[in-house]
Amino acid sequence: MPIRKSIDPLHAYVPGEQPSGQNLLKLNTNENAYPPSPKVFEALGNLTADDLRKYPQPTGKDLCDAIAELHGLAPEQVLVTNGSDEALALCTRAFCEHGGRIGYMKPSYSLYPVLSDIAELESVEFPLESDFSWQVPEAVDVDFFFLTQPNAPTSLAMSADQIETLIQRCPGGVLIDEAYVDFAEESMLPLLKKYDNVLISRTFSKSYSLAGIRLGYLMGSAKWMEALYKIKDSYNTDVFAQRVGLAAVKDQAWMQQNATAIRGTRNRVTKALTGLGFSVLPSQTNFLFAKVPSGEDAQGIFESLRKREIFVRYFPGELTGEYLRITIGTDEQMDRFLSELATVRKYV
Ligand SMILES: Cc1ncc(COP(=O)(O)O)c(C=O)c1O
Repeated sequence: MPIRKSIDPLHAYVPGEQPSGQNLLKLNTNENAYPPSPKVFEALGNLTADDLRKYPQPTGKDLCDAIAELHGLAPEQVLVTNGSDEALALCTRAFCEHGGRIGYMKPSYSLYPVLSDIAELESVEFPLESDFSWQVPEAVDVDFFFLTQPNAPTSLAMSADQIETLIQRCPGGVLIDEAYVDFAEESMLPLLKKYDNVLISRTFSKSYSLAGIRLGYLMGSAKWMEALYKIKDSYNTDVFAQRVGLAAVKDQAWMQQNATAIRGTRNRVTKALTGLGFSVLPSQTNFLFAKVPSGEDAQGIFESLRKREIFVRYFPGELTGEYLRITIGTDEQMDRFLSELATVRKYV
């Protein structure tokens, strides 16, 4: 058999459903309900035949410079990637020897174990408490740790002190996955100045409303970036992603305005769900993780909503099985969600 032995037992990552239809309400993959900046469409319109004929900038230099400027870093400290997922995959290849150990909290982003398996590494899971908090153990004996901050699917953020404790107790590298940080109270960016074994990843898929173009980036020490540059694909981001990303980064006002609207809607829906008897975790993201009222069936509600073309996410399992993860949409969308929820609960 020409297929490598280690591939047979692998389980591919299962992304949230991408249904299509006129009337559906998609609150299942934490996309942004608002459109990207109009500057993005201008940038697309300005693409020439030459832009398409030629290879893109190998490192996405213009975009990389703009990101560095935005965060007060040197361009050598930034790597632009094909979605932040690529950034995570590169880390498994660059920072662990064969058979090394990858740590992550459970539950957190379910891609981490998949990437660990693909790289033939050992996955070390650190279970969260039943309230989804985490006491960092005395020793975090792994080569590399993926920390989702704020966490998904829980929507909770850890304190900067706790994160520093993790960094100090973990002898290897720590990647702080800040996919949702624009909806949160603080970023861990200042830690890059203090620790040279810390990396931060970001994505354009959430706050910039650009999940379709697959763009993310990684920030860290120039030394670690140099290692990653050696192993990335030569042209890992295309000309569309680079131009669109640049236009989006330069329109911070647009992104911030949408993030503010989402935070506002998030607070309103949190109150509404709490009023209905749900226990909603204090979200620092663009989604809610809500426990259904006692005696109610989360999976049943999920399935009934689905029949009505309202898509949310359900994660079976001891810790998460009574919860629904609900992406925050526009106010109008969330009104529809709340009204359909009231209907289905009568019958589940
Ligand atoms: C924690 C976390 N990190 C990374 C990603 C993926 O980001 P991207 O679309 O840039 O690959 C997601 C997507 O849902 C996520 O939840």
